[in-house]
Amino acid sequence: MPYTLHQLRVFETVAQTGSITRAAERLHMSQPAVSIQLKHLQQHFGLPLTEVVGRRLRLTQAGHELHAHVADLDARLRDMEAAMDELRGAVRGRLRCSVVSTGTYFIPYILGAYREAHPGIDFQLQMTNRDTALRHLESDEADMAVVSILPDDLEVESLPIMDNPLVVVASPQLEVPETTAPLPLAALAELPIILREPGSGTRIVMLDLFGRHGLSPRIPYEFDTNEAIKQAVMAGLGVSVISRLSLKNELRHGALREIPVEGFPLTTRWRLIWMKRKRLSPAARSFLAFLEANREAIMTRQFGWVGE
Ligand code: PGA
Repeated sequence: MPYTLHQLRVFETVAQTGSITRAAERLHMSQPAVSIQLKHLQQHFGLPLTEVVGRRLRLTQAGHELHAHVADLDARLRDMEAAMDELRGAVRGRLRCSVVSTGTYFIPYILGAYREAHPGIDFQLQMTNRDTALRHLESDEADMAVVSILPDDLEVESLPIMDNPLVVVASPQLEVPETTAPLPLAALAELPIILREPGSGTRIVMLDLFGRHGLSPRIPYEFDTNEAIKQAVMAGLGVSVISRLSLKNELRHGALREIPVEGFPLTTRWRLIWMKRKRLSPAARSFLAFLEANREAIMTRQFGWVGE
């Protein structure tokens, strides 16, 4: 029986997620349906494409080979669809974007403004951390990514979006040494620090700062989302470094307070990035052009308070 594009897509999703269950979730299919499609493909090629090692699903050599071809094919198919759209004069399509978790707070405003002007473009967003966003870009699971620390091992193009001021926060109840001047960094390192998970860009910035000053802070807690960190800080577990952009409500309602510390705010800059080697679709080009023309106005309108 000939194989179908659908079967190749199922296989690709299994390869990307490393799991029948996760592939089924992502494709909105049942697990048996995913297994059957995979089985058809294996029967067609007469080769096993996956194997279970321990309790993990892995690609066989044939699976790896097929995966590389399917990724090429997928890119060509998207180019084909984009070229047809362009000929029709319509900018339509779907943009897959992997965004660092701190982007959660501003990206919806950009998408909202963009889609008012371009309702034909849909977005598929993955909110994650820096390492995963970069991996998605490299493996072409994302057309674009939003990060604030550029990679040094990937050739990317970038467009700045806005400044990301990172500040030190604590709960109003946490005892912090009283000083009239900003707290010395060495005093901050004495407080219990709540750190983001490995792979997070915010973590890199924090550890780099302490490292440059020869300080080894106490790090009793690691959490893997900004929201979890906020809750932990509010509960008084310690202090952390968070984007000021994400703190509007907590600062306003007094649930958190910003602690002035030497060297803060530490300002990085969010950027939209994409692989240099990638041919951008008309949808991606239109999004870039929109962002370039409108980012300042959108950010000033929504986030003017951040610099106050
Ligand atoms: P992250 O974001 O800590 O969620 O990885 C960092 C960044 O802004 O690049």
